[in-house]
Amino acid sequence: MSIPPRPESERELLASDRLLAMGRRELRGYGAGWETMMGDFVLFAGTANPPLATATAAELGVRLGACFTQRFPDGETAVRLDEPVRGRDVFLVQPTAPPVNDHLVELLALADACRRSAAGRITAVVPYFGYARSDKRHGRREPITASLVARMIQAAGIDHVLTLDLHAAQIEGFFQIPVDALTAVPTLTRALRDRLSPDTVVVSPDTGRVKTATDFAHRLNTTVVVLHKRRTSGTETEVTHVVGDVAGRACLIIDDMISTGGTIARAVEAVLAAGARPEITVAATHGLFVGEARRLLAHEAVRAVVVTDTVACAEQPWPLLEVVSVAPLLAEAIRRLRADGSLGDLY
Ligand code: R5P
Repeated sequence: MSIPPRPESERELLASDRLLAMGRRELRGYGAGWETMMGDFVLFAGTANPPLATATAAELGVRLGACFTQRFPDGETAVRLDEPVRGRDVFLVQPTAPPVNDHLVELLALADACRRSAAGRITAVVPYFGYARSDKRHGRREPITASLVARMIQAAGIDHVLTLDLHAAQIEGFFQIPVDALTAVPTLTRALRDRLSPDTVVVSPDTGRVKTATDFAHRLNTTVVVLHKRRTSGTETEVTHVVGDVAGRACLIIDDMISTGGTIARAVEAVLAAGARPEITVAATHGLFVGEARRLLAHEAVRAVVVTDTVACAEQPWPLLEVVSVAPLLAEAIRRLRADGSLGDLY
């Protein structure tokens, strides 16, 4: 497979001079050695979320490295790095969002290109980690695909993974390389704080999200209600119990991800049936919104759906949707990784 030469207009990912200028202003705060230290650094974007990669580059005051991805008619993916990486500290920004398999293979191919070109260190910045829900076997003769993906990432030569709100914390254990799993909860709570009624309770849509809901509640100075969810198929769930009091209260329903919207739609029905005020806000880190998700979430009691930009939002504007950027968080993490600093307070 060969890739044609790179035409001038094929990539629009280079951060503009304006963004570079903004970044330089910001870099002053990092002392004299910082710009030199960033010199052996390169940030590439795969095709999964160029706006997030561009915003992260702008936060860092660097331009994105030039690279090229092409999909062939038979479905194969080809990539090419258009600048040297030998000895450099490489960051590849590529959430493995839908189409998950294409974006995963592209990440692996980019990493392989970096490794074969003698990159010094390769960090995969995977703000949304696809297959994370396949973190355990639910029955016999089933795979643990998240573990398989971890092995593929390592086999491709990636040295370090930076990710956000992993569906299950134990996924980190599938890797033998360092994984920094940050959280967008502070980013989301900053966006939510001033818009919620004082009596709002945080609702966890299932028992798996209680820890995250507790973090939201702690930051918003309120309490948690937990729903017991039973999954009846890949797209269908039902709520069997509401644990806690929602009667007459406004609700903030949180989750790590919204895929088909089924989980949140069932949660909305359950809290309303338990007497909640029809004043519901939904917040999640990863907004995939596949299939009929937007229609399912368009309930008259839902006032807003707040997500981050870990997954690129391709569809038309949607009045309920508010997107907050995690680019500043990712940029801060990259700065600290470059400086061997602690990421402890970003978790
Ligand atoms: C499940 O455990 C996850 O935390 C989410 O609740 C779920 O994956 C969301 O998927 P959907 O929007 O399709 O219900």
